[in-house]
Amino acid sequence: MLERTVSSRRYNIHGDAVDSDDGESKTKKHHHTNRASNYLSRFTTGSGYHCSCAIIASFFLLFLFGSSFIFTSPGFLCISSFDPLSRARFFGFDGLQSDFGALGVPCCRSKHGKTVEWTSKDLIKGLEEFVPIYETRPIKNNMYGMGFDHSFGLWFMARWLKPGLMIESGAFKGHSTWVLRQAMPNTPIISLSPRHPEKYLKKGPAYVDGNCTYFAGKDFVDFGSVDWPKVLHKHEIVNLSQVLIFFDDHQNELKRVEQALKAGFQHLVFEDNYDTGTGDHYSLRQICDQPYIRGGGHSCLKDSDEARIRSRRKKFWEKAVDIEELCGPSEAWWGVRGYLRDNFNHSNVPISYAQHFQNSRFIESILDVYWELPPVAGPSLTHQTRYDPARAPNPIVEDGRHGLFQRLGLAKLDNSVFNGYTQMVYLQISEQ
Ligand SMILES: C[S@@+](CC[C@H](N)C(=O)[O-])C[C@H]1O[C@@H](n2cnc3c(N)ncnc32)[C@H](O)[C@@H]1O
Repeated sequence: MLERTVSSRRYNIHGDAVDSDDGESKTKKHHHTNRASNYLSRFTTGSGYHCSCAIIASFFLLFLFGSSFIFTSPGFLCISSFDPLSRARFFGFDGLQSDFGALGVPCCRSKHGKTVEWTSKDLIKGLEEFVPIYETRPIKNNMYGMGFDHSFGLWFMARWLKPGLMIESGAFKGHSTWVLRQAMPNTPIISLSPRHPEKYLKKGPAYVDGNCTYFAGKDFVDFGSVDWPKVLHKHEIVNLSQVLIFFDDHQNELKRVEQALKAGFQHLVFEDNYDTGTGDHYSLRQICDQPYIRGGGHSCLKDSDEARIRSRRKKFWEKAVDIEELCGPSEAWWGVRGYLRDNFNHSNVPISYAQHFQNSRFIESILDVYWELPPVAGPSLTHQTRYDPARAPNPIVEDGRHGLFQRLGLAKLDNSVFNGYTQMVYLQISEQ
C-alpha cells in the first residue's frame, strides 16, 4: 500500500540509462559530421590541386550537411511557429539555452533526505500506458482544469500508491475525478467542490462518478471543516496512511497542509504548485523558496545577473516573471511581491520575510518527501510556451528525444494540452 511509496534510497530520476532511440537525430548528426570531417581530412593532407578541390568539396559538404540538418532535425519542426530571430535565440545562438536552469529550481527539504520510489523509467512506462487512456477522456476541452502533464502525474501517483480512499478538493467539471477513477477503478472517492460537477452536464461534457461521495452544491463543506473522523469511520478507514488527498482548490497550501496534518493525513498532492511571483494562492514552491535553497531566494537589484536572465527569459515564456514583477515594495520578492494569496486571490495579505521563513521551517519539520512532477516533455517537443523550463525539473522526455515522444503517442495530442504545467507536487507528511 502507501507504505511502499518511498525509500531512503536516492534516485536521480534522469540518471537512468537512455533508450536506444535517444537523440536519434543527434546520432545522425554525429554520423554526418564524422563522415564530413574524414572526407575533408583526406583531401587536406594531399597536394595543392587537392587543396582547391578540398575547398569546393568542403562547401559542397557543408551545404549537404546544413540542408540535411535543417530538414531532418526535430528542432526544425518544433520551432516553426517562432519568428526566425526567436528561433535562433531559442536554440541558444545567443547563449539563451545555456541559461536553462540558471535560475535554479528550489524545492522543499525533507527531514531524512527520503525521495520517491519511482524512477524515470517507471514514468516513461506510465506514459506509454496513460496516453491511450487520456485519449478517451470525456472532457476534451478542460480549460481552467488540468491538462495532460498533471493528469498523467495524478494518475501515475494514484496508481503507484494504491490508496484505499481518494479525496479530492476542487472538482470543477470532474476531469480529475475521472483521472482518479482510471487509476483506481474500484476505490471510493470523496469529492469536495462548491458546485456539483453534474451542473456542468447541462452545458456540455462533465464527469460524475458512481462510487464517489460528493460534498458539493448544497452539501458542500470545505476540507478544513469536514468532520474527518466521522467520514473516515463511515468509509471504514482506520489507517490514514491509506488515504490520498488531491488538492486543486486554489487555497493557501500552508493552510491545507496544517488542516491535513490535524486530521492525520499523510499523502497529499497539490495540483497548482505555483512558482514565486505567480499564481493565486500561497504554494509549497513559494514557501520553500528561501535563500538557503539552491535556486531559492532572489535579488531585486536591477543590474543583477538574475535581473538580466529573467528579462531575457520573459520574452520567451508567458509565465516567466522579470524582476519588476517579482519584487514588490521594499524589495519583497517572497510569495507574490511579498503577499500571501489565498482562495483564487480573493484574499491577499502582506507577509513579512520572518513569517515566510518560519513557514518554510515548519514545512521542513513535518516533511518526509517532497517530489515535483517533471513536465512530460521538453518545450521543443510539446511546443508549450507558458512555463519557463529554467524553473522546472528536467522533463521526463527530454528535448531532442523526438523518437520517444512519437513512440509514446504524445505527438498525436493537441499542443494546448501541454500548456497547463505548474509543478504539481506530492508531499508525504511524517507520521505525527
Ligand atoms: C481549477 S478548478 C479544479 C479543476 C479540476 N480538478 C480538474 O482538473 O478539472 C478549481 C475548483 O475548485 C473549486 N473550489 C473553490 N473553492 C473551493 C473550496 N474551498 N474547496 C474545494 N473546492 C473549491 C472551484 O469551484 C473549482 O471547481
